[in-house]
Amino acid sequence: MAKILLGLTGSVAVYKSLNVIRLLERRGHEVKVILTSSASKFITPLMAKSLMKGELFTDEDFWTSGKSLHIELAKWADEIAIVPCTSNTLSKIRYSIADNLLTATLQAYKGPILVAPAMHEEMWLNPEVQDVVQHLREFRGVFFSGPARGILASGETGCGRLQSEEFIAEDIEAVLRGLPLKNVTVMVTYGRTEEPIDPVRVITNRSSGLMGYYLSKAVMEYGGNLIQVVGETSIIPYGRGEIVKVRTAREMFDVVSDQLDKVKVLIMAAAVSDFEPQEKYEAKLKKGKDLMISFKPTVDILHELSGSKRGGQLFVGFALETENLERNAREKLENKKLDLIVGNFATAMGSERSSGFLLDRDGVIEKFDELHKDQLAHKIIEKVVSLLK
Ligand code: CTP
Repeated sequence: MAKILLGLTGSVAVYKSLNVIRLLERRGHEVKVILTSSASKFITPLMAKSLMKGELFTDEDFWTSGKSLHIELAKWADEIAIVPCTSNTLSKIRYSIADNLLTATLQAYKGPILVAPAMHEEMWLNPEVQDVVQHLREFRGVFFSGPARGILASGETGCGRLQSEEFIAEDIEAVLRGLPLKNVTVMVTYGRTEEPIDPVRVITNRSSGLMGYYLSKAVMEYGGNLIQVVGETSIIPYGRGEIVKVRTAREMFDVVSDQLDKVKVLIMAAAVSDFEPQEKYEAKLKKGKDLMISFKPTVDILHELSGSKRGGQLFVGFALETENLERNAREKLENKKLDLIVGNFATAMGSERSSGFLLDRDGVIEKFDELHKDQLAHKIIEKVVSLLK
């Protein structure tokens, strides 16, 4: 687990940093904090210290410790994250101003930096501030977590709000991993599709969409750009990146094929209906007599798109089976020209855990047993990263 130095600067959003500290400590990281004097106008050092396990430093320590605290902290940290970061501190980093413990530490530090800005929209959009942001991104490789859109401290709605604490913690870990999916756009489809029979009835399946939710989260945790194409599901889709809601197999096909050009990795975790009614009834079917409905196959999205797959593009599919899992998965890998297939048993449907294997285009197989879908998602994304190399 990593050593993370969190810099807390003077924004009213600083109280949320206490939650970020807690999330990071819960994930097993060692956290130390530098509180600037402006930040300590919003929260006291005692308050922050009481809620964390690690050490907390203020500018008073900087001037009274009698040792090179900034050098020690710069050597100690695997990552420095500034949460929240004011426009003032952003500009100080840009121009290498070292007038307090945090900025002096940053000047002496050589590792990865994450910044989670929080300010009013007018300040964030100020051209000088945007110039600073661009410079820090491009020349210093600083990772920006947010800002998010929403209600700001002024009561107005705009861009400048501190990113959610969960997402900041995810981004801090993505930076630690070295952002292996940086600049890679990954499309994840999940949920089930529904094919209408009449205005009130549908044919569908029992997929929960949980696997796709965790895959989407993992894409962000590895620093990728995310597009989610989500069918019917009882879970709330993962709230980052682009989200497109669809209902039928045809709608899912249209969205995926439309956007495929901008995608490097397609992960089809959706449980697409294999059948749709030959005929769609315009009026609600009435009860009382026998009913025969005949079905026809829906579009096989992966199979259809395998023909237009570009060089370097990577397709990941799933095989959900009740029998002959390995044989069926191998066939699907071949027929749909996949780079990777996740074979799992039908018991995974609606469950938090799954058993099965990953089978890649070179025939390498890796089994997993009763693995939580969150961990399985990480395993899949790590495999994707290695196949992209
Ligand atoms: N899939 C697809 N389009 C479909 C059906 C499935 O793109 N109409 C994708 C799924 O998202 C999954 C993979 O193909 O990644 C395999 O899906 P699965 O339902 O296991 O297999 P099918 O190909 O539908 O074959 P069968 O149902 O006969 O096992």
